[in-house]
Formats: sequence, C-alpha cells, structure tokens
Amino acid sequence: MTTETPVRRLYVKTYGCQMNVYDSERMADVLRPLGYAITDTPDEADLVVLNTCHIREKATEKVYSELGQLKRMKQARADAGGAMTIAVAGCVAQAEGEEILRRQPAVDLVVGPQAYHQLPELIARSHRSRGERLAADFAAEAKFDALPAERASTGVTAFLTVQEGCDKFCTFCVVPYTRGAEWSRPAAAVEAEARVLAAQGVREVTLLGQNVNAYSAPDAEGLGLAGLVRRLAKIEGLDRIRYTTSHPADMDDALIAAHGEVEALMPYLHLPVQAGSDKVLKAMNRAHTAESYVRLIERIRAARPDIAISGDFIVGFPGERDSDFEATLSLVRDVGYASAFSFKYSRRPGTPAAAMMGQVAPAVADARLQALQTLLVEQQKAFNAAQVGRVLPVLFEKPGRHPGQLIGRSPYLQSVHLEAPAALMGQIAPVRIASAGQNSLAGELALESA
Ligand code: 5AD
Ligand code: SF4
Repeated sequence: MTTETPVRRLYVKTYGCQMNVYDSERMADVLRPLGYAITDTPDEADLVVLNTCHIREKATEKVYSELGQLKRMKQARADAGGAMTIAVAGCVAQAEGEEILRRQPAVDLVVGPQAYHQLPELIARSHRSRGERLAADFAAEAKFDALPAERASTGVTAFLTVQEGCDKFCTFCVVPYTRGAEWSRPAAAVEAEARVLAAQGVREVTLLGQNVNAYSAPDAEGLGLAGLVRRLAKIEGLDRIRYTTSHPADMDDALIAAHGEVEALMPYLHLPVQAGSDKVLKAMNRAHTAESYVRLIERIRAARPDIAISGDFIVGFPGERDSDFEATLSLVRDVGYASAFSFKYSRRPGTPAAAMMGQVAPAVADARLQALQTLLVEQQKAFNAAQVGRVLPVLFEKPGRHPGQLIGRSPYLQSVHLEAPAALMGQIAPVRIASAGQNSLAGELALESA
C-alpha cells in the first residue's frame, strides 16, 4: 500500500555549465519520490536549491547576494506559518563548504557535487532539526521497517519497546524516513512496565527498538542500554532479558561488559553487518568496516565466549561485484553465525541507493542469496549440533504438538522440544540436549543434574 504524499515544491536555480544542468535534473530525480515537484517561483518553494558555479570571478558573491534575497523569502514564509529549506549545491558549495553556513545562517544545507545521492538524508536531517518529519512516499514493507509486533502479554515472554527511530541513514533503508529520529522511552516508564509484566508472570522480556543499543534514557543522564538492562535485571521474577535490533556503532564497552556480568542478559546478540566488502559497506553508509565488525565480535566473545551471534545481510546492493560478495562469504566464515536473516537488495525509491549506478541483475542477486543462505544454514545447523550432550536451562513457553510435550527456549533463542509435565510451563528447568535440527533442539529433563 502506498501512502498519499503531499506535494512539496522544489525550486532549482542552475548556474554555469551543462554539467550543472544535468546535476540539477538528477537532484530533482532523487527528490521526486520524496514528494517534491518542480516550481518556477522561489517564493512559493518548500525547498530551494542553488546549484552554483564558480568558474567566473565574483560568482561566489553573486550566490551570497541571491541567498540574501532568499533569506527574506524564508522569513516571510516563516511569518506566514510555513517553512522553506535552502540548499546550496555545486562548485561553490564544494569550494566554500561550511563557510556558507557561517556567512548566511539562513542556509540549511550545503551539498557538494559528489554527494547528491545524500540529499534525501541531508533534507531529512534538516527537517528533523525543525522537529518535522519528511513525508515520503514509501510503500510500507513490514519486512524491513517494522519491529516485532508488541503483544499485551499474558504469556511467559513479552516484547517491550524502549526505543524507536533511526539516525543511521543506511542508504538502502526507509526507516530513518518512515520512523523518524532516534527516540528513547524514559527508563522509569520502561521499568514500571517491566514490573507489571513480571507480576503477570512474564519471565523473559525482549527490549525492542530499531536501534535499541542507541538507547539513551531521557530521564537519567548517561543511562544507556547497559544501565537499563542492569536495572531490569534486578526485578524479581524477570529472569531473562534480550534486546533487538542493534547497530555495530552503538555497541559500547558498557554493553559488552554487561554481556559478561549480567546473568539475566541472554547470550544472544542480533548484530546486523549487511555485507563483508568495505566498498559496499561505505556505499551503504554503514559506518563500520568488515574488519572493525569482526574485531567487535571478538571483544563481545571475550566478554561472553558462548554468545550466539545473529545477523542481517543484503546481497545485490548496487555496485556489488563477485569479489565483494566473496568478501561477505568470507566474513560469515570468520564470524560463525548461530542464525541470520538474508535479503536480496530491494530498491526503495527515495533512498539514496535507489539512485546509485550499478544495480545488480536479479538473477545474479538470486544466485548470491542462495549461496549465502546455504552457508548460513550450514552454520546454524553446526551451532545447534554443538549443543547436543549439553544441559541447558530452558524456559518453557507453550505446549508442544503432541500431548505431554512442551516447547521452550534455550538461552541462545533456540526452540527446544521435549516431554515434560505441563506444570513446568513458565518455569526454567535444565534439559539435556539429545538431538538438533536446523530450527530446533530436542532433549529430556535433566532435573537430577540441576
Ligand atoms: N533491501 C533489502 N534489505 C533491506 N533491509 C532493509 N532495507 C532493505 C532493502 N531496501 C534489511 C536489512 C535490515 C533488515 C531489517 O532489513 O538487512 O537489517
Ligand atoms: Fe535502517 Fe537499521 Fe540502517 Fe537504521 S541502522 S538505517 S534501521 S538498516
């Protein structure tokens, strides 16, 4: 389903050469999916772009004088309760950079010729600074932008939203546009809700957020996700805490330490990497390299050696060559995943990647996805098989398919099936793992060795 997008007016003034004329058209192209239609009159525009040129003398001064006029129009719009965004692009933007913002504070953003694909991000950030959201024509695709549905829980496990939105602007992703800026719930409210859940019999909570490890309590200075987890771990009856989804850049020392120290924090971490090629990661605007991600995993494993690592992957990102894809496979081999989600790149108009060169042919992306999934399934089976013979604490969540059976979860989020008395529902009991498949484990109660 596509949402109705209000038309926003875009005025582009092009100076100089044919190259700039071409660039202006490209800027209009990347902005069209965000609801911008061209207008010929700047005073009515919601967004004014001056695509500048400094080949001739005094060109820079001409731009500043034009900006002086635009400033007055912007003020008039503001007085009338509206808003105008002013962007300077082109060679003067390149040459002057931040100086433009200092000399003319009415300018909202400056974008050099190499960075037009970043316009959606820059405009979204500029709107955020005014407290607005960008009304983008993004079809809802729950697969990518939704959190697991929160349930009013009467069961043993529950989801608890602690954070929403995203400031990361990965170039393939709609979330920063659809969900807006990163926002955290007060720790006191989260704690109160967790207490209510625990009193209702919930034994395990999963803290939710699009970027949950960017959590920063608005009501307790310096309290990040690690501090929140430590607070919740003190709640009587709440034996297990998980969180999802995290970004590598926000995986701080405190959170890594918590994995080694907080017993209730389960040894499972969903930490998307998306790709293993630095060139692709850079084009994705991921803010990490393959190497820095692998080092991060090593530090997390040093704190909690048995932790199960899960990830998200995208294959067929624009510009991804065979050698880039090989780098993804190689990273997967280095890390060793317990589970993973992998997707074929899906072009979302309005995101910077949609306008990138080198879109990958669907058949090539299909083949890569299959090769990646084959490797990931192998790793998942190996991780599950490695539990055979171990005794794991299992939280019993629901009845199994056959009478006398229960289904529970291991600390590593694996589903465990076994014969067990119904009275164990909602309890944690030791289970000796007897066999393992791709998606679940089977075993028997090991109460005597508890
Ligand atoms: N194409 C393919 N996968 C995507 N994801 C997000 N946007 C896209 C897209 N345009 C995937 C990422 C993210 C997960 C929730 O969805 O891997 O981590
Ligand atoms: Fe999207 Fe996640 Fe990247 Fe945010 S961090 S832009 S939600 S993929």
